[in-house]
Order: sequence, then C-alpha cells, then structure tokens
Amino acid sequence: MTGVLPPAEEKARSVQRMFDRIAPQYDRVNRVMTGRRDQAWRVALVRRLRIGPGDTVLDLACGTGDFAEIARKAGATVIALDFARRMLLQGAGRHVGAMAFVQGDALQLPLASRSIDAVVSGFALRNFTSLPPVFAELHRILRPGGRAGLLEVDRPRNAALRAGHGVYFNRVVPVIGGLLSDRAAYRYLPASASYLPPELELLEMLRSAGFGKMQKKNHMMGAIQSIAAVRT
Ligand SMILES: C[S@@+](CC[C@H](N)C(=O)[O-])C[C@H]1O[C@@H](n2cnc3c(N)ncnc32)[C@H](O)[C@@H]1O
Repeated sequence: MTGVLPPAEEKARSVQRMFDRIAPQYDRVNRVMTGRRDQAWRVALVRRLRIGPGDTVLDLACGTGDFAEIARKAGATVIALDFARRMLLQGAGRHVGAMAFVQGDALQLPLASRSIDAVVSGFALRNFTSLPPVFAELHRILRPGGRAGLLEVDRPRNAALRAGHGVYFNRVVPVIGGLLSDRAAYRYLPASASYLPPELELLEMLRSAGFGKMQKKNHMMGAIQSIAAVRT
C-alpha cells in the first residue's frame, strides 16, 4: 500500500487535501460507482433512525451534504460538518434548503454536550485518524437516547462474492475514478478499507464509547454496512 495510504502522521492533512481536490466530481463518481444506490442506503438509514421534525441532526464528515439533505427533507434541523472546505462549498452551492454547513474536525466537535438528537455519517470512518476519540465526541454531543447511524464500505462474507467485489473495488473503481476524477484518490478509496476494524471490534468500540442497541445491516450483498446505535 506504499504510496497509496499516507504515513500515519500525515493522514489527516492528506485526506483533507484529497477531498478538497476531488470535491467538484465527488457526487458524480459516487453515483456511477454505486449504480446510484448510495442515496437509497442513506435514505434507509435516516428512516431506521426515525429522523423527523423536532430532531437536531449532525451529518458528521458530511462531504457535499447528501445525508444532511435527506435528513432536512425528513423535517430535521441539520448541521453538516466536514473539515474539507471545498466539499462544504459544493454542498452549500447545491442544497438550497436551510442548513448549517460548518468546517470542523470530527475529533473535536464545535458543538455543546447533549445538544444533538441524531448523528449520521457516510463513508467517513476509514478516513479518520482514530475511531475511539470520534465515538467519544459523538457520545458527548448526543443527548441520552440519541441515535447514531454509520454507513461504510464492508467486505462480503461469501467467498465468491468477496472475490468478485475485490476485483470491482480494487481494480474497476480506480479506473472509473481516474477517468472521471483523480486516480490517486480512487486508489486510496479501496486501500483505505484496511483502516476499518473487523465487525466485532468496531461494535465493541461503540459499546466502550457508551452506545448500545447496535444493529448492523448490509447492502449490496455485504459490500456496504449500515450501523444504527443508541447513546446510553
Ligand atoms: C468519503 S467522504 C464522505 C462524504 C459524505 N459523508 C458522503 O456520504 O458521501 C469522507 C469525508 O470525511 C471528511 N473527513 C475526514 N476526516 C475528517 C475529520 N477528522 N473531520 C471532519 N471531516 C473529516 C472528508 O473531508 C470527506 O468529506
């Protein structure tokens, strides 16, 4: 993975620069890579969390704000936070409805304790430098009983599906990304899955941070994971 994944001490800066670079094409590449399924996964998670009027929702590492827009349409008041300025600008330019786009770091959220009813986060976990401090921040800002929804890539369990998915993710995705956007960024994408802890470890991290009632679902035959949890 040398040359694809940045050295640990440079990861945050490198990830921020990379998303600033690919911001203009980000949504289009997502739609092409997922056959336009990505929005359906976000909608399903917003419904699972029962997000609606009266909820204040944080879209953590919002990118261009796809999750934020879905939560807003469900009636919530939404704060969309990311550290990549150009991703935020893309979102702010595209989503006309009222929501707050905030530049900030997931490891140090500029939000009051117990001020948020639900958090959603799409495809961000593997981009953070460390997960426990992010989960600790989510626990701090959520009110007791608040809900968290995390969408991420995963690896299918079935060996044949896993092999097919490996070819698509590791070989086809960088080609599509290279043609439509930036080859280095879309080589990073599959490689960055190696940052994700195995399922039980990830759920244990959430439990240790003070979350319960964890429920994991899969999409695309196990290539995508969708986790819902409740802040205790
Ligand atoms: C793959 S994109 C996901 C964007 C969006 N959530 C979605 O569902 O498409 C990952 C996002 O995480 C953001 N990110 C990574 N580390 C972050 C951090 N420490 N604080 C805030 N945003 C971060 C990146 O800037 C990028 O916009």
